[in-house]
Amino acid sequence: MFVLLVSTLLISGTFPATAIDVFTPPEVMVENGTTGVLKCTFKSREVISSGASVSWTFLAEGSDASPVTIFHYSAGWPYRSSTPQFKERVEWIGDLNEKDASIKLTKMQFSDNGTYACDVKNPPDIEVMPAHTQLRVVMKEAPPIPQVRVELLSSAAGFCNVSVNCSANDIWASYTCDHAHCTQGEITTSLSGVNIIVTATNGIIHCSSSNRVDTKTQSVPTKDLCKSVCL
Ligand SMILES: *[C@@H]1O[C@H](CO)[C@@H](O)[C@H](O)[C@H]1NC(C)=O
Ligand SMILES: *[C@@H]1O[C@H](CO)[C@@H](O)[C@H](O)[C@H]1NC(C)=O
Ligand SMILES: *[C@@H]1O[C@H](CO)[C@@H](O)[C@H](O)[C@H]1NC(C)=O
Ligand SMILES: *[C@@H]1O[C@H](CO)[C@@H](O)[C@H](O)[C@H]1NC(C)=O
Repeated sequence: MFVLLVSTLLISGTFPATAIDVFTPPEVMVENGTTGVLKCTFKSREVISSGASVSWTFLAEGSDASPVTIFHYSAGWPYRSSTPQFKERVEWIGDLNEKDASIKLTKMQFSDNGTYACDVKNPPDIEVMPAHTQLRVVMKEAPPIPQVRVELLSSAAGFCNVSVNCSANDIWASYTCDHAHCTQGEITTSLSGVNIIVTATNGIIHCSSSNRVDTKTQSVPTKDLCKSVCL
């Protein structure tokens, strides 16, 4: 009723419409089975009115259908979607007085991949370009076991220095090590969030790949390589 009244007034030109700016992170990664936060903030030149409303829509990855509304908030009340995919999984965590229109989605599944759009209206601020977040649901998985190659470098004054190449899938790092210290040489950047590190203890080289899930280590003794070196 109130919304209808406001729109009628707007159409009759009583209030000039002004623009509202909405912001979301362009991309969000969430592990499957966990809760994902869809952050949305906005700027409005007007005082937040009781007619303010928020809408969130979802468009599945690669879909050419129209976006579906998964959440609506107006007149101080959250309305959840009855869409089977999102039913009971959307929660309002925003606060319009703080210019926050965020929601969270529990039990993320791979089918939740796609584009989420946040739309905020705060009459008479109603001209809005919805902001989009590309959400990727990624698998909780351990990093690959690293491969390690050790070659004898130089040996001087009783040092056995080796060059180490530690690699995991498409990323690698090169190090120079003696029996107890390693210095990093070249390293490639990882897109998958895997880190590589090489250490040495008591003549054993340890090559590790790790991500937030797990660490995998491959250890190689340098004893045989260093045999030729007079220590
Ligand atoms: C995440 O997805 C993998 C692969 O489908 C599955 O094995 C695993 O159980 C899922 N984890 C959760 C917490 O849903
Ligand atoms: C969701 O996105 C992830 C990361 O890009 C991808 O690995 C996965 O295959 C996608 N799943 C679907 C159902 O599109
Ligand atoms: C280290 O190993 C990787 C994978 O085998 C290779 O692509 C890369 O060129 C090597 N780097 C150096 C400096 O040898
Ligand atoms: C390699 O050997 C030299 C001595 O020739 C030593 O000073 C240096 O610390 C060693 N480098 C590394 C990375 O351990």
